Amino acid sequence: MRRLMGRRLSSLIAGAGRRRFSFLAQPAVAPAEAGAILHKDAKVVPRIPRFDYTPPPYDGPRAEEILRKRSEFLSPSLFHLYRKPLNIVNGRMQYLFDEDGRRYLDAFGGIATVCCGHCHPDVIEAIINQTKRLQHSTIFYLNHAIADFAEALASKMPGDLKVVFFTNSGTEANELALMIARLYTGCHDIISLRNSYHGNAAGTMGATAQCNWKFNVIQSGVHHALNPDPYRGVFGADGEKYARDVKEIIDFGTSGQIAGFISESIQGVGGIVELAPGYMSAVYKIIRNVGGLCIADEVQAGFARTGSHFWGFETHGVVPDIVTMAKGIGNGIPIGAVITTPKIAQVLTQRSYFNTFGGNPACTAGGHAVLKVIDKENLQQNALVVGSYLKNRLKALQDKHEIIGDVRGEGLMLGVELVTDRHLKTPAKAEILHVMEEMKGMGVLVGKGGFYGNVFRITPPLCFTKEDSDFFVDVMDIAMSKL
Ligand SMILES: Cc1ncc(COP(=O)(O)O)c(C=O)c1O
Repeated sequence: MRRLMGRRLSSLIAGAGRRRFSFLAQPAVAPAEAGAILHKDAKVVPRIPRFDYTPPPYDGPRAEEILRKRSEFLSPSLFHLYRKPLNIVNGRMQYLFDEDGRRYLDAFGGIATVCCGHCHPDVIEAIINQTKRLQHSTIFYLNHAIADFAEALASKMPGDLKVVFFTNSGTEANELALMIARLYTGCHDIISLRNSYHGNAAGTMGATAQCNWKFNVIQSGVHHALNPDPYRGVFGADGEKYARDVKEIIDFGTSGQIAGFISESIQGVGGIVELAPGYMSAVYKIIRNVGGLCIADEVQAGFARTGSHFWGFETHGVVPDIVTMAKGIGNGIPIGAVITTPKIAQVLTQRSYFNTFGGNPACTAGGHAVLKVIDKENLQQNALVVGSYLKNRLKALQDKHEIIGDVRGEGLMLGVELVTDRHLKTPAKAEILHVMEEMKGMGVLVGKGGFYGNVFRITPPLCFTKEDSDFFVDVMDIAMSKL
């Protein structure tokens, strides 16, 4: 298989152009709505689950025209995933529709962002109602939307974590968290994990630790600890051993005191990497012993995604000093937040601090509706049940396809790492693009990431069903069989 793939893939890569993230491959088959149809290799293509919604006809600009405008007027740094970029014009719950009305199962959820489903009616209604009354004022006046949402968010937090600062994005939330830690401790040094992603502004790019997401600009004061990655890490799944590296960094790389430690509880952009058991609790102890603050970046893993708990850090049995969030908090509305204790929050009174849009009425009304939907529709429980079912089916697929090196994650935050050699763990960078393209052709959209770009990131809306999971795995199975 490998020699054959080698020839086929080298021609694909050669044509893949200058962008690392775009991809050339053969489109697979007919529209997903066509149901059980014959694949061009005479395999039966599984049927996308039934869904009772027909989008309104689309008569707007087509993909080619948008692409042309995008190339001319938007940043050249923007990339797309497929050989023929998709023009997505409609969304309902866990499904997306393209310009021709073709329906796709969305297993990426706008990068773990759409948690209660695309265009969820409750969320839309809350935003519209608020927008009709008041879209924006300023923090200089009172408004109940921001106060109500802050109270609701605080009620989801353990311990004394109950003071909320609203931002517009995950990057902003992490920037603020890092600054708070520095102000509170009077120290500058931060420790983050290799392979992490925390944002792309000055401080957060420093905390981010993957060269493909870092520009060569000054990023001071961050030390990157060994990643406690059970699959690729040097100490396997021994969390305590990795934690010792943090102690060594403090002892040999700083003054002996630090501002804090920031970590995702499951790395998202880094390829759905779970942290070795015991790591977080051991590290939190070390950090607190030297007076540092522990920051949990819940931008991807928060809001019920991991299934067993509402927050990812809870799966590690720790209580952070500062929690940051974005993505799922708004189901697609630009909003983020930092939550900390009243004592720590006091540091921001040293100067004037505010954020023009952070916590505006429309976004906070939407965010509050998201929280209510998660509770009302038992989405955490659904993430647990459906996520476990999907993971088991993916594990079974691993037994069938040699190319699957690892299946991991929790709830509906799952990763499937592809390798061309299970022993050497050689990243199957080109193969994953091929599988992804084939899956799209059969009606499934999925994310991709990891340092080597060889990990499927499965982070769908939390209303994903078992039928969706079956469809997803059956389609992946066929796509892999074609390698
Ligand atoms: C864990 C994590 N933190 C922070 C960020 C930055 O969030 P944003 O893109 O909203 O600035 C991301 C974005 O992917 C993320 O995955």
